[in-house]
Amino acid sequence: MLIVNILSDLRTAIRAWRSAGLSIALVPTMGNLHAGHLKLVTEAKKKADRVVVSIFVNPTQFGVGEDFESYPRTVYEDQQQLIAAGAHLLFQPAVSEIYAPDAKTIVSVTGLSEKYCGAFRSGHFDGVATVVCKLFNMIQPDVGLFGLKDFQQLTVIRAMVRDLNMPIEIIGVETVREVSGLAMSSRNGYLSVEEKMIAAKLYQSLCVAREAILARRQSYPEIERQAVLFLRDSGFQPDYFSVCSSRDLKQAGEDDVGLVLLAAARLGKTRLIDNIWLRLCSANENATSVDRNR
Ligand code: PAF
Repeated sequence: MLIVNILSDLRTAIRAWRSAGLSIALVPTMGNLHAGHLKLVTEAKKKADRVVVSIFVNPTQFGVGEDFESYPRTVYEDQQQLIAAGAHLLFQPAVSEIYAPDAKTIVSVTGLSEKYCGAFRSGHFDGVATVVCKLFNMIQPDVGLFGLKDFQQLTVIRAMVRDLNMPIEIIGVETVREVSGLAMSSRNGYLSVEEKMIAAKLYQSLCVAREAILARRQSYPEIERQAVLFLRDSGFQPDYFSVCSSRDLKQAGEDDVGLVLLAAARLGKTRLIDNIWLRLCSANENATSVDRNR
């Protein structure tokens, strides 16, 4: 695996692959890799001849008082995992390689970025869209792979790629979970042993809500209200729990068929997010779900 830190070296490698007619997939990450990231690499290898992984803890997507400084940086372990997973190139730039000190351009996907996580993390999705746009420009991949756990992020990136006419296929890859159901995340490392047991209840709340939707027992607002109460009773401070249309992340109506249940909640000093996607077969009683985060 080639490890490069400098844009000119990255471009040299990409040019050589392009001249040889090879296709390229990009897996953007912030490092501290876990099984969820490695699944992205595995899927990327099925989609393209060469897999580039970027590790860059992107300062512009962290707000004031968030964990940019303390975000886990595990360079050596990450490199070993990527070699074992068969990635071809690791791009690990310094902040100065990505951002000019007087950078003036921000990519903002309006309408999608301000709600849900965006309402609690002002400017977060502008930072994400800007850095992903830059990585796409630098690497010019055929395919970009992102975890479905960050469903709103994926929706923002899909919209950016469409709106900016980027010739890149965006693939969402299923969330990898611990046995307890807890979605894998680099931030799980902040949880104490006791908190980690409670954390699994976030996924439980989503599963319960999904069952209620399938049974058509309650209205969506009532399902959201009960989920928030359940999370509070379990020790979380919920930021939101929303039943949305998976197409545009608007609040779901009774006629929507593709739904995503989005949840974010704080447990101690850790903020967790998770979601479940489900598809109702029709608006009649025979509705079912596909238990896949797609
Ligand atoms: O999901 C992440 O790890 C980050 O938001 C991403 C997409 C690598 C952009 O910094």
